[in-house]
Parts: sequence; structure tokens; C-alpha cells
Amino acid sequence: METLIISGNDDNGIRIAANIIREGGLVAFPTETVYGLGASALLSGAAKKIYAAKGRPSDNPLIVHLSTPEDAEKFAYVSDTYFKLAEKFMPGPLTVILQKKDIIPFDVTGGLDTVGLRVPSNPVANKLIRYAGVPIAAPSANLSGKPSTTRASHVINDLYGRIDAIIDAGECSIGLESTIVSVEGDNSLKLLRPGGITLEQLKECGFRVSLDKAVTQKLDDSERPAAPGMKYRHYAPRASVTLFDGDYEIVKRKLYELRDVDGAAILCYYEDTELAGLKNSIVIGSRIDKQNTAHRLFALLRDIDCDSSVKDIYAALPEKDGIGLAIFNRLIKAAGYRVIKV
Ligand code: TXA
Ligand code: MG
Repeated sequence: METLIISGNDDNGIRIAANIIREGGLVAFPTETVYGLGASALLSGAAKKIYAAKGRPSDNPLIVHLSTPEDAEKFAYVSDTYFKLAEKFMPGPLTVILQKKDIIPFDVTGGLDTVGLRVPSNPVANKLIRYAGVPIAAPSANLSGKPSTTRASHVINDLYGRIDAIIDAGECSIGLESTIVSVEGDNSLKLLRPGGITLEQLKECGFRVSLDKAVTQKLDDSERPAAPGMKYRHYAPRASVTLFDGDYEIVKRKLYELRDVDGAAILCYYEDTELAGLKNSIVIGSRIDKQNTAHRLFALLRDIDCDSSVKDIYAALPEKDGIGLAIFNRLIKAAGYRVIKV
């Protein structure tokens, strides 16, 4: 299949992409979190095409993207809590799980009677949804299991020739996927996946928030995560990932001991002066600038993948405050939960 590459500045190109979506085709598009692989959320066949292009298990539900928070009423049963969330955080990196209406086909929701709704703030995404005139079902635009894509070049690497079009609008500003919450009751939420909106921000707005176990821990085989996607190995580069947990000085010493190990790469911050200068270390950025770490993480994992000499990646287990919780969640999943206490 010939994949059309469209510039995010090309208004007519975005109209062409919108038409492809309406007619049941697949278009990768930028959002403020990561690139999405979009299809009409009203056509059941279109969702199947997404699963095929990504190589994704079809019991993993897709998030439905809307151009305004009010549109949610057409597709799901909304409540006061939804509208309070919408007022604070939409458009933006938040997905809210609600009971779906019949108009959303079951293959979009992986057979669930709930649907995740999100209103992206990226202007190109917003335009695409408006021009399409239908809600857009979109998972992250990566091959299943790989790190999510935060640049059009990543999408081209994974999906060129497998989808109809890719809209290129540069780098995604946040770099990690949206925060997913389900509404459990009045002002009461469960956090299913941490992301661009932090737990602290939700609590500051007066919501009671519980944390789904799958955010920070590996589930037993018998346990079902509230977000089906959380059970799959994810965000995984080709090289293995191992995380060290413990006192930061001791963790740094353990990482330093790997300086001459064949095939080992050490992820570190530029404040880690003993590590940052080593020939096999990779500097993510500043330890205190977590937004920047979030922004760069997936691109970095993909860059490391291009270096075939790297077989094993080692890093400190991230702190869990603010957007750190999302970084922690993505890294323990990339590591397949390989965390070593030091
Ligand atoms: O930022 C994002 O959310 C990006 C951009 C493209 O919007 N999308 C994204 O989609 O990350 P995806 O498919 O890679 O991850 C969606 C996650 C999966 O873990 C899935 O199981 C969960 O959302 N999910 C979707 N619908 C759900 C539902 N009805 N109930 C529970 N979890 C749901
Ligand atoms: Mg994904």
C-alpha cells in the first residue's frame, strides 16, 4: 500500500486525510501525547483494520477521540463528574472511561460496554476530527509492543506501507500517552494509566482517586487489569531493560560498575556526573526536569534500538511523584518488571 505523507500545515491535506477516515481508511495523526493511528469510531470494520496494521490483540479497546467534550453525550452516558473533569482537563491529555451508547461498535471497545473518550488539544488532531465529522478511534501509532511514536519518522518506521496516510506535525509536546481514569462514583475516580495529567492534579481539583494495581505492579496471571492494554508487554525496545531500586548513591554505584560491560548501556541524568561522561552512558536530561524526561523517553528508547551494539539497558527506578508516576509505569513495563533491589 502506498502511504500518503501529509504536512500538518497543509489544510487541504488534512481534508484529504479526513475523507480517508470517513471512508474507512487509516490515518496516523499527531496529538499532544503521542501519534495516534486513527479510523472512524463508527465503522466496525475500520477498527479491525487498526488491529491488523498494528499487530494488536483485538481484545484491547481503542480510545475514541472527539473534537469537543460536549460530543461525549452522543457516544456515552455522561455524569456531573465527567463534566467537572472536562471543564478542568479537556481538551488535553485525559481519557475518561464511561458506559458506551449503542452507536459505538463493540470491536472499537474490544467487546466492553464501556468506552474511553478523549479530546486532544493538538490543533492538527482537532482539525482532523472536525473535518472527518466522525469520532476517531485511535491507539498509539506504533507496532504492538514497541514504544509509542512521538515523531512522524517513528510512525514511518513502524507503519509505512501498512496504512493510508501519515500527518506529520513534528514532535508531540508531552511524549507519553494520556492519563486514563474511570468514573467510579460522584467525584470518585480510578486511575488506570498515569500520563500527562498527574494524580496530584486530579486530587487538587477535589477528586478522590484510587490507583489501579496494574499501574505500579505486575498482576498475577489470574488478575484482570481494569485497562486491558495494561497486561501486555509494552513500550519495549529490542534491548532488554533492567531497573535498579534503592538508595540513589548505591544505585549510581551499581550503574557505574557496568561501565565496561559489553552491550550494556546506562541511562542517566546529567547531574549524575560520574555516569554522564562514560562511553556507554546515555543522558536523558536533568533529573529534576521530569516533563523533559517524559517528553524524550520513547524517542530515546527508539534511538537506542537503532544501535545494534546495545543489548541491555540499565537505569534507576524512577521516582513516582508528578509525571514521574507515568515514567515509572512505562519503564517498569519496558523492563518487563525486571527491578533489582540494591
Ligand atoms: O494518549 C493517548 O491516549 C494515545 C493517543 C493516540 O490518544 N492513545 C493511546 O491508545 O495510548 P492505546 O490504544 O495505545 O492505549 C489505550 C489504553 C489501553 O491500555 C486500553 O486497554 C485502555 O486504554 N482502554 C481503552 N478503552 C478502554 C475501556 N473502555 N476500558 C478500560 N480501558 C480502556
Ligand atoms: Mg499504545
